[in-house]
Amino acid sequence: MRLAIINGPNLSQIGLREPKWYGTHSFEDFYLQLQEDFLAQGLSFTYFQSNNEGALIDHIYQLKEDGIAGIVLNAGAYTHTSIALRDCIKASELPFVEVHLSNVYAREEFRHKSMLAGVCIGSISGFGLQSYRLAVEALLAYDKQKK
Ligand code: DQA
Repeated sequence: MRLAIINGPNLSQIGLREPKWYGTHSFEDFYLQLQEDFLAQGLSFTYFQSNNEGALIDHIYQLKEDGIAGIVLNAGAYTHTSIALRDCIKASELPFVEVHLSNVYAREEFRHKSMLAGVCIGSISGFGLQSYRLAVEALLAYDKQKK
């Protein structure tokens, strides 16, 4: 089974940017470990990061065409603003898990609203890089229960 991880705007700076919220570890190191940890379960991953809303949308449709089983998405600030991304998630009919490194509900009020949560199978927020690992587990459980 193949899963995708997508990071939106400013998430190329994980480990460098606002460590109070996003930690000090690089995503790339975490991603290498994640791939290794799920290998035995027959899982493989693709990873994409963009600061551009349209590029994220094009990538999602490409993944759909390529037959991806599910997507872990940290859309960064687009989470709170992007109706276009919401429409794309819905149109793709793929299972998405929305993730955030920080607990968005413990932060500014504008981060409490997600445009995407209602079209995802669920959301995980506040566990740092482990949010991605939990999202992968959630997609695995979702896939198992579907069969
Ligand atoms: C974030 C939370 C968003 O509110 C913010 O705009 C980000 C990162 C997170 O991972 O905690 O860029 O998605």
